[in-house]
Amino acid sequence: MASDSSASSLLARRYAARWRMRLRDNALLLAVALTAVALLAGLSGQIAAGLVGALAVLAAALAPRTGAAKQVVKTSATTAAPSDLPSGQELAAAIADPLIVCDRHGVVLFANAAASLVFGRIHPSELIALRFRSPEMQDLIGAAIAGHSVQPVDYGERVPIERSFKVSVTPIGADGRFALHFRDQSETRRIDRMRADFIANASHELRTPLASISGFIETLRGPARNDAEARERFLQIMHTQTGRMARLIDDLLSLSRLEMKPLAGAGTAVDLVALTRQVTDSLGQMIRDNEMALTLDLPAEPVRVLVNADEIVQVVENLVENACKYGQSGKQLHIALSTDAEEASLSVRDHGPGIPAEHIPRVTERFYRVDVETSRVQKGTGLGLAIVKHILTRHKGRLTIRSTPGEGATFTLHLPLAKDPTTR
Ligand SMILES: Nc1ncnc2c1ncn2[C@@H]1O[C@H](COP(=O)(O)OP(=O)(O)OP(=O)(O)O)[C@@H](O)[C@H]1O
Ligand SMILES: [Mg+2]
Repeated sequence: MASDSSASSLLARRYAARWRMRLRDNALLLAVALTAVALLAGLSGQIAAGLVGALAVLAAALAPRTGAAKQVVKTSATTAAPSDLPSGQELAAAIADPLIVCDRHGVVLFANAAASLVFGRIHPSELIALRFRSPEMQDLIGAAIAGHSVQPVDYGERVPIERSFKVSVTPIGADGRFALHFRDQSETRRIDRMRADFIANASHELRTPLASISGFIETLRGPARNDAEARERFLQIMHTQTGRMARLIDDLLSLSRLEMKPLAGAGTAVDLVALTRQVTDSLGQMIRDNEMALTLDLPAEPVRVLVNADEIVQVVENLVENACKYGQSGKQLHIALSTDAEEASLSVRDHGPGIPAEHIPRVTERFYRVDVETSRVQKGTGLGLAIVKHILTRHKGRLTIRSTPGEGATFTLHLPLAKDPTTR
């Protein structure tokens, strides 16, 4: 019962509020109409007719609004006052893509800041067709001036940097003006090219051992069918090739896992001194097989970094393996760890042939090898340093490479030191 009465009083209050609002909204109309009715009633001496008229006006004022009237209320609720609205030029300036507006003769009326930044200063009153001379752009501009609708076209700039755009035309108003909108596609193109290169490289790397294996299978089924010695030798080669394919697939999976998570988690406090010893111990046989003399220059105190230990082991292993594989002729392997206030630096130095300067910026690219044949002989996939770079970036670290051809190469990894004193 109590809830019934409170619900009905709430309803009554709501209606009263709504009527008050309608009366307020129509106050002027109401005043004018009531005055007119009163005047007419007074003039004609018919009080009753006057009263009926006044009630009719009041009812009309209280009646809910419909149709157009409602829409006006809605529109005014969502649109700012005209003085607050941005001008067309302000809107165009706020667009990050280049935008150029022309009149119906193709004369520039306006170019936004992004257009001037990319294409150099574009002056009002210059002819747009003289600025963009490629056949596709000439066709597009010609069609825009003729008032025809056209499909977007591709347009590329090579200087100062290579960029590519999808250009579309939009008519403005009814007097033939039009806007040219340039959507930057450079990044998408670059990623597409990288993906295509990557797939081509990966397939090529897999196809080589596969071709070798299938060649040996043919030989074993044919001419070498009854040659036990040849069979043994070929099976050994096939075994090596499948190992190479497995390594390549492991490296590819490792790279793809790293790319899925560009930043490493919090990590655990790891002592780089102990980690370096662990790697040189586990690669001891390889160092000895390559007859290299190892010098370790490590601090007596632990050097703590917050990292994923397995990943950093992978980094150091690849650097030491590379020094053994490519710097083996120098016979010396020098590993040193030092710190400054911010970071730890672990360098792996060999005295082999080194790396010519022009190759240094590229050796961390996937599949990049200075000498493909040497790397193949060494069973390299060309992915090791790409993985190293990825792992270090994930840990907010970096890799520096220094080399004097003929005197060897130094690869140094830099990692931020653990800040928390409790981890020291
Ligand atoms: N210490 C070094 N001295 C000379 N060249 C090197 C050295 N380390 C790397 N390189 C060159 O850089 C290339 C890329 O090295 P990276 O470690 O990425 O691949 P890889 O060793 O060939 O294969 P993976 O590491 O996957 O087994 C090598 O093929 C080699 O040409
Ligand atoms: Mg390597």
